[in-house]
Amino acid sequence: MRKKIVAGNWKMNTTPAEGVELIKAVADLKKDVCPEVELIVAPPYTHLCCITEIAAKAGISVGSQNCAAEPAGAYTGEVSAKMISSLGVKYVILGHSERREYYGETSETLNAKLIQAYANGLTPIYCVGEKLDERESGKYFDVIRKQIEEVVFNLSSDQVSSLIIAYEPVWAIGTGKTATSDQAQEIHEFIRSVLNEKFGDLSQQVPILYGGSCNPSNAEEIFSKKDVDGGLIGGAALKAPDFISIAQKFPK
Ligand code: PGA
Repeated sequence: MRKKIVAGNWKMNTTPAEGVELIKAVADLKKDVCPEVELIVAPPYTHLCCITEIAAKAGISVGSQNCAAEPAGAYTGEVSAKMISSLGVKYVILGHSERREYYGETSETLNAKLIQAYANGLTPIYCVGEKLDERESGKYFDVIRKQIEEVVFNLSSDQVSSLIIAYEPVWAIGTGKTATSDQAQEIHEFIRSVLNEKFGDLSQQVPILYGGSCNPSNAEEIFSKKDVDGGLIGGAALKAPDFISIAQKFPK
């Protein structure tokens, strides 16, 4: 049995005070979510200090949206995995398409970030996904294979045993255009088969989340697929009732 996970990526939204209100609202509603479902929130760095305690009391895990590729030193503006982990943060989102696209993150950068994450006890949520032209030209399997092979294949089995992967088709992120549940299942199954080539049966243990305009109306259909273990939620994670409603959509 793989873990079921719903993770909220708040992106660059909310002030710290608004973030506290949001986590309190999520905490208040958490009782409505089945205890087997792990809830994760990933607010901006500036909020981590003020929300980790509230989240911990409510049994909600916290992630950061990024971490530095270097351990420490003269890297103005960067935040290290050690700093993040020392706040009681458990997860780190790495390889999000917005980081790849706007901040030029490559497999090389991401390898360095994953090393930092694991060295400091953070569990990566590693994102993969194809762009619209790559989907339309039928190249999406190659793109996703490359994103897995160039990064995940460098990890040890021990590291992969705690890894989470998120499949987020770039054309579905923030666009209101969701992948169909069959499209999601096809890629989740493919990711698992690529993992199987290198890690064998361990591939069956890795939770694979779907992300991209997931909301309370489409989550049930997407979560019904056998290789979909939950969601990485952007826009809908900014409204506590929507986020909680998504977490209630796993098959009974
Ligand atoms: P979205 O974002 O739910 O707003 O499409 C998902 C993500 O980028 O993680």
